Amino acid sequence: MKTLNQLLDMKQSNDKISMVTAYDYPSAKQAESAQIDTILVGDSLGMTVLGYDSTVQVTVDDMIHHAKAVRRGAPGTFIIVDVPFGAVGINEQSDLETAVKLYQQTQANAIKAEGAHLTQYIESCSNVGIPVVSHLGLTPQSVGITGYKMQANTKEAAQQLIDDAYNVQQAGAVMLVLEAIPSDLAAKITKNLDIPVIGIGAGKSTDGQVLVYHDLLNYEVNHQAKFVKQYGDFSKGVQALSLYNTEVKSQQFPSDAHTYKKQVMNEVSE
Ligand code: KIV
Repeated sequence: MKTLNQLLDMKQSNDKISMVTAYDYPSAKQAESAQIDTILVGDSLGMTVLGYDSTVQVTVDDMIHHAKAVRRGAPGTFIIVDVPFGAVGINEQSDLETAVKLYQQTQANAIKAEGAHLTQYIESCSNVGIPVVSHLGLTPQSVGITGYKMQANTKEAAQQLIDDAYNVQQAGAVMLVLEAIPSDLAAKITKNLDIPVIGIGAGKSTDGQVLVYHDLLNYEVNHQAKFVKQYGDFSKGVQALSLYNTEVKSQQFPSDAHTYKKQVMNEVSE
């Protein structure tokens, strides 16, 4: 398993860090077999596997349930689990208790929290030993306000993001995810910071890249953003299911190849 120090070394030696989301045992097993450096149990699972139209409905219990399965599928991979919508901002004590619960019960290596306003939270979690990955730029939990579009594309907003990124690092964040921002801005922030910066829709200069599993394998469950590249094609899943359906009805399945042929009925007394 890659450690935080090894991920830091990768930044320093410009060795790019790969990250993919996974939400269950089989996807985690695949990510580990593919030797992906880090897995994110993203709250995007709200859309990709639970069928919600945003991440807002996802609960702490949902995250724990899925992250535990991911840990079973990828026991040797650095795993980050998302802090879902509404799990921060109640009060300092309860926010921290939820962070402890997420970290402890899932056996993840870090939690990820969205937003520049969470510097105090990052500090409190770090103080009790929970590594926190910060997520800035487009933060899907706030799409009700921002919409799904490029962020920080004015001079003022870009400067604000540069400051925010520095502040989350100072608060103790161990890594930063930057989503849907201009690539030159992502390059500048990556250069400014000591911690690894992982991009999604942030160009090629970040220290690593993250994509959503179902997007890169084309499961056709999400709207496909400009920054998604498809590396596989599971859209043919429906074709396969429909062929199975036809073959069951036409009795082509199961064939002899899928049947135990040992005869036992002559050994069974009537
Ligand atoms: O939940 C998620 O999948 C994420 C990625 C988009 C970075 O936060």
